[in-house]
Amino acid sequence: MCGIVGVVSNKDVSHKLYEGLKNLEYRGYDSVGMCFLHNKSFLQKKGVGKLAEVQKKVNFLRFKGNIGIAHCRWSTHGGVTEANAHPHSDCSNRISVVHNGIIENYSKLKDELVKKGHEFTSQTDTEVIAHLIEDNLKGYSIEKAIQLALKKLEGSYALGILHADSPSKLFAARNESPLILGVGNNENFIASDVPSILGYTNKVVYLDDKEIAVLMKGSFKVFDLDGRQLRKKINVINWSREAAEKGGFKHFMLKEIYEQPRAIADTLNGRAANNHVVFDKEFGLSENYLRKIKKILILACGTSWHAALVGEFMIEELARIPTEVQYASEFRYRHALLDKDTLVIAISQSGETADTIAALREAKKQGVKTLSICNVMGSSITRISDGVIYTRAGPEIGVASTKAFTTQLSVLYLLTILLSKLRKTLNEGQVKSMIECIRKIPMQLPAVLHEDDEILRCAELYHKRTNSLYLGRGVNFPIALEGALKLKEVSYIHAEGYPAAEMKHGPIALIDKNMPVVFIAPHDIYTYSKILGNIEEVKSRGGIVIAIATEGDKEIPKKADHTIFIPKTLYTLSSILAAIPLQLLAYHIADKLGRDVDRPRNLAKSVVVE
Ligand code: M6R
Repeated sequence: MCGIVGVVSNKDVSHKLYEGLKNLEYRGYDSVGMCFLHNKSFLQKKGVGKLAEVQKKVNFLRFKGNIGIAHCRWSTHGGVTEANAHPHSDCSNRISVVHNGIIENYSKLKDELVKKGHEFTSQTDTEVIAHLIEDNLKGYSIEKAIQLALKKLEGSYALGILHADSPSKLFAARNESPLILGVGNNENFIASDVPSILGYTNKVVYLDDKEIAVLMKGSFKVFDLDGRQLRKKINVINWSREAAEKGGFKHFMLKEIYEQPRAIADTLNGRAANNHVVFDKEFGLSENYLRKIKKILILACGTSWHAALVGEFMIEELARIPTEVQYASEFRYRHALLDKDTLVIAISQSGETADTIAALREAKKQGVKTLSICNVMGSSITRISDGVIYTRAGPEIGVASTKAFTTQLSVLYLLTILLSKLRKTLNEGQVKSMIECIRKIPMQLPAVLHEDDEILRCAELYHKRTNSLYLGRGVNFPIALEGALKLKEVSYIHAEGYPAAEMKHGPIALIDKNMPVVFIAPHDIYTYSKILGNIEEVKSRGGIVIAIATEGDKEIPKKADHTIFIPKTLYTLSSILAAIPLQLLAYHIADKLGRDVDRPRNLAKSVVVE
């Protein structure tokens, strides 16, 4: 899980590499490095720490060169040391490589190379790539040597490669790890994601697995591993550079929380009106097929898995299709049996989560149809699936997922309406009123965001507590899980989510005057009165109650220490509104504790390793 950027230009590239890395730091921040190619020799510098720390020591910006590669690392093989930081070189220091991914057979390859006399200077899997290219260079062109080397690799890679004797060329390749090409004016780029180069170009080529690109300042070519040239489409990206920046907020996480009215409105735009739901052409699944499916299986990880649980509730309740949710990481090793009438849905913000990709591939092997719900255009998951629904959240930079989550819920709700309509489990009037309610959500969100003062007060009072419980029921049980996950990941406070009724089966033993308990308790016809009882149980044991309630609720404020109101909406949609105060609570607590909110320790934005 690392970030790569590379540039070949008619000018010095150090600023562009530096800016590109700054935008990629969410992918890895234990060490950084750059290599410039100048007058047929390399200037290579690297160091341990975040980009700004290493910059203070080495000042990357002083280096000359019209071609260069850069890398920020999140270690997988080998400790966090300067020697293990990228780029890595061959014995002759004529090849320089940056890599994201894992070479699974590196140890066998390394043994073979060592026997042939290659000398290694790091413990990384990446270094074998540089030596392997060097080994194949004898008698072959650099292009051929790269092809031959890549054919020996097992595992995942996104690569940027420089060869000192090819001073006008930047080489790139990918297999199961994200890499894009950026097409500029008299300069071309490689990068792990689109936002990192959006300041320079919005023209992007998506590399596919087992493809090699050769970039020069005014042109690029893409080949397969046998050297056959491929035709690639140039895509124009409509995300603005500003969309990927903080826009005056202290952290990306806060900016992204506040962007949710826009993100949800964009996600709904053109897809839901009157009594119709229509997805874009990438949806790819016919109405006929959707009428016939007998089961839905949703695969995802982390926050996207919580969205899947909400989706399960919505689809079963309204479209009446049996639905199951599994962790992608578990599914792939379960030897599950899939019926051909099962639709498999993968949910992923990044579209690059290794476990979700592997689970989706496993499902595809069994011949079922697959649909992905994803935020990143052209990402791996979207290219594996038969159909895609994009959430239009825009780039999500904060490691903690916020706007991606609520846009996932919005898409799942639209999908539920479409399925309900096709299968006639809801009548036209019901469909129309559900569409009206979701279209109101972006207008209702500012009221939720206005509750921020009370949420901040809770953060001020309770940020030093070391444990907390999140309780919800029905569609809001996954929201309790998500609230607890948000708090854990950004504040490092232990938090657990439970179905509220389960509290009495164990967690109630934890309640005392030091335990904040967050209840997600919007008004509903099924469980509201039971949740009131659960609040009493916590209060009578001295616990602190923070409740999310529907505006106008008179009962909850009498019992809870703090009440945060969300507007009235349909029960299923209350999940979207209720998620937001929990994101804000986690954010403010983490900020009060001085945590690195956008880059919490040990976490990375896209978990591209298993
Ligand atoms: O990109 P994905 O949605 O596939 O990522 C899945 C999880 O890694 C992700 O949701 C993770 O749990 C986030 N840090 C949550 O905020």
